[in-house]
Amino acid sequence: MATPTHAAAPPTDLVVVPRAVLEADPHAVLARHRAVVPCIRTDDGVVMLLRAGDVQALVADPRTRQVETEFALLRGITAGPLFEFFRQTVLLSNGEVHRRRRAPIARAFAFQVVAALRPRIRALAEGLVAEHRPSGRMHLLADYAALLPAQAIALILGLPERDVPDFTAWVYAMSRALTSAWGPADFPESDAAARRLIAYVEDLVAQRRRSPRDDLISALLPAIDEDDPEAAAETRMQIVSLILAGSDTTRAALAIQAGLLLADRAQWEAVCRDEALIPGAVAEALRFEPAVGSFPRFALAEIPLEGAVLRAGTLMSFSTLSAMRDPAVYADPDVFDIRRSDHPRWHPVFGGGVHRCLGEALARIELEEGLRALTRGLPDLRADRPLVVRGSAAIRRVDELPVSWPTG
Ligand code: HEM
Repeated sequence: MATPTHAAAPPTDLVVVPRAVLEADPHAVLARHRAVVPCIRTDDGVVMLLRAGDVQALVADPRTRQVETEFALLRGITAGPLFEFFRQTVLLSNGEVHRRRRAPIARAFAFQVVAALRPRIRALAEGLVAEHRPSGRMHLLADYAALLPAQAIALILGLPERDVPDFTAWVYAMSRALTSAWGPADFPESDAAARRLIAYVEDLVAQRRRSPRDDLISALLPAIDEDDPEAAAETRMQIVSLILAGSDTTRAALAIQAGLLLADRAQWEAVCRDEALIPGAVAEALRFEPAVGSFPRFALAEIPLEGAVLRAGTLMSFSTLSAMRDPAVYADPDVFDIRRSDHPRWHPVFGGGVHRCLGEALARIELEEGLRALTRGLPDLRADRPLVVRGSAAIRRVDELPVSWPTG
């Protein structure tokens, strides 16, 4: 069987849902369609899989592969630093190329290596809470949720803490290209941010070459200094990938979990009283309002679903946003319940197969320690505005969440 290398024309027999409609009320629109059809087509031609059973069965199915530059091209990103990121990142590669890109960084994110960082991440979270406690208020997203993951990734990679504001600003501008709100007008800013982040990493590599240290960038130097310039550029791009993946998704997830709990005082207070509830609260927040709402795949062959057939060459988006509210798997899926016992063993929010999120262990530690420091240090915390999460796919966005507490 010949495998398609280019995206096929999108199927015409599926329900078409304009992106704007989906963005306006994602959970309601997805639920309405999920009850009737296994997939919908958005107006950019991408087919979105809605049901938990399909997402779980196809995540590592040999009839699918990871997308490569197809999504970038669909978005009109065809050249320049941002395109180079899409072309060279571990996330968007397959087979031997993927193994070559993932192996060197995977060692640094192995469960035991990351577990050893927990005390330092706890100290970072407690430090942030202590710094803000006297003022009685903070912006949860900017003053807390953004800083903990950025400081943690800085710790792992050996980035100076003073660089956090710069590299996070570039990351947020660049990662707009990985959100459902992306439009061509965003290109100049995202491309400029990619150029700066790549140059920043190149600078760091040059510094480590002059004076190696005990950090991940120094450990990657032999691969970066290979004779093959393409291979060297590719390894540098994995450092860019880690800075991006490590500081944006967890930022949103930290703010979301606090916002959800603060909106449900009884569950917030339960976590304040009993730390054993923290892992369940983290898992439930990741299900109920995920920071990443989907991940992509490409159909290599025809894929029959119950009620639709996907053609080879279809660009797919596996909607975890929809799958994690599927009543076929979760009892009362629209209820936020930190004591829920029906989470699958592998949390769907982190994808699956060989591409399953490399930072899962780190993200969980940051989310658990981030929540523990807040519930311990600021049990009287209140949200001054309701939580607003935007986006129907890929990386989602959270509005700033002002919070306050009594200081007397
Ligand atoms: C709540 C936080 C996070 C969520 C929800 C999340 C989710 C995901 C998802 C859905 C994927 C794609 C999986 C697939 O295609 O099957 C992914 C891949 C990836 N994530 Fe995360 N992630 C998070 C945090 C992190 C962190 C903290 C890091 C590292 C510092 C990280 C590094 C990566 C990398 C390197 C990949 C590409 C793996 C590959 O393609 O082999 N992520 N993540």
